[in-house]
Amino acid sequence: MSEKVVIILAAGASSRMNTKLPKVLHEVCGRPMLAYVLDACREAGVQKAYVVVGYGKEQVIESFANDKDITWVEQNEPKGTGHAVMCCRPHLENFNGNTMILCGDGPLIRSQTLQTLLQKHEHDKAAATIATAILDDPTGYGRIIRDSYGNIEGIVEHADCTEQQRQIKEVNPSYYCFNNKILFEALSQITPNNVKKEYYLTDALHLVIDSGHKVLAVTAVAAEDAMGVNNRRQLTEAGRVMQNRVQNNLMENGVTIVDPPNTWIDARAIIGQDTIIEPFTYIHGRVKIGSNCRIGPFAHLRDGTVIDDNVVLGVFTEVKNAKLGNGVRARHHSYVGDAKIGRNVNIGAGAITANFNGSKINNTEVGDGSFIAPGTILVAPLTIPAYSYTEAGDVVNQGSNIKNKNRKERPADVSRQ
Ligand code: UD1
Ligand code: CA
Repeated sequence: MSEKVVIILAAGASSRMNTKLPKVLHEVCGRPMLAYVLDACREAGVQKAYVVVGYGKEQVIESFANDKDITWVEQNEPKGTGHAVMCCRPHLENFNGNTMILCGDGPLIRSQTLQTLLQKHEHDKAAATIATAILDDPTGYGRIIRDSYGNIEGIVEHADCTEQQRQIKEVNPSYYCFNNKILFEALSQITPNNVKKEYYLTDALHLVIDSGHKVLAVTAVAAEDAMGVNNRRQLTEAGRVMQNRVQNNLMENGVTIVDPPNTWIDARAIIGQDTIIEPFTYIHGRVKIGSNCRIGPFAHLRDGTVIDDNVVLGVFTEVKNAKLGNGVRARHHSYVGDAKIGRNVNIGAGAITANFNGSKINNTEVGDGSFIAPGTILVAPLTIPAYSYTEAGDVVNQGSNIKNKNRKERPADVSRQ
């Protein structure tokens, strides 16, 4: 297989989103849209990504500062998708391999689809190959025009379509693979001669076809995956599709999700086998949950939560940036923030960590086997030794005289009821 790179278009200001935030930073299941596109490319074996940025570029670059395989390319003015690709010329004009082009606003992309596209392109030695999708409602997408033999003749943007062309249901989800040399040759010839007065990438494809090169259109994109996010409704819709994927994936890995539509789980969450997620649970951020836990109903787990096995968290329990040891119980109305809770600690109803003193976040550590009675306020910074216990309503500071039952650690209660 020849070397392959990807150009991802992410420079548009996105008037349809009505947003100040760069569009590709809007989140789907807790991650910016662009992150999914990059991951799909990496999984498909793409070696290098050129991401074209313009509107809000500092913010986009800052958000992906850890992704060292990205080369950022600037497009100073959004003059269209074709123009955005042209901005990559200084980096790619001497490149002899295949260049894929994708849009940063298509987070539902899957690596398998990209692999299918690449294989077809390389196997058939095409100059350009695009993956298409068939949609019940193709409104807004570029339509695929084929001749009577089924060969692709071109793509016509929704705004430029005749009434008859608008009936076509096969659309361009913007998954392209080009012979790099042919791509840049064609781009140097396109003009902004259309309703939007933009340089369309789709016009470059036309030129490649017209000059007699082999161009293929394969119907390889599932309708669900084809969505480009241009407005807030599509953002929500993409989030719903992605949430289904996240939950299905967890269920395949042995997690029970009692009521999927009433549960929300971040794409970055990791959950162990035989853990049960009860309804109205909201898991946001990098959260790790072990095996055999029962979480919820109405639990709220936030970024940095790491939960060991056999933990039970019940109604209105909120956990943030905290480690919970094996067998911890916090069943009703508690807040555990910036804390390390030892094994088999029982956190009573309404007990909380007071982790923020108005200017600084402080940590709390509770030793193994401790019993934190209902209504206890643990005022951080605070360290409590193993097997301590508090009385209902205690306010515990670092200087408090903490009682210790010196009891043996009780065996983990595995009933989880
Ligand atoms: C584009 C395609 C359309 C396809 C649809 C799929 C063209 C002309 N049209 O339309 O055929 O059906 O995607 O979702 O290519 N961008 C830049 N610089 C620009 C303009 C756009 O980087 O000057 C970026 C945007 O940030 C966005 C992507 O390119 O991520 C696509 O642009 P957008 O305006 O959303 O194109 P569509 O109208 O959706
Ligand atoms: Ca779009």
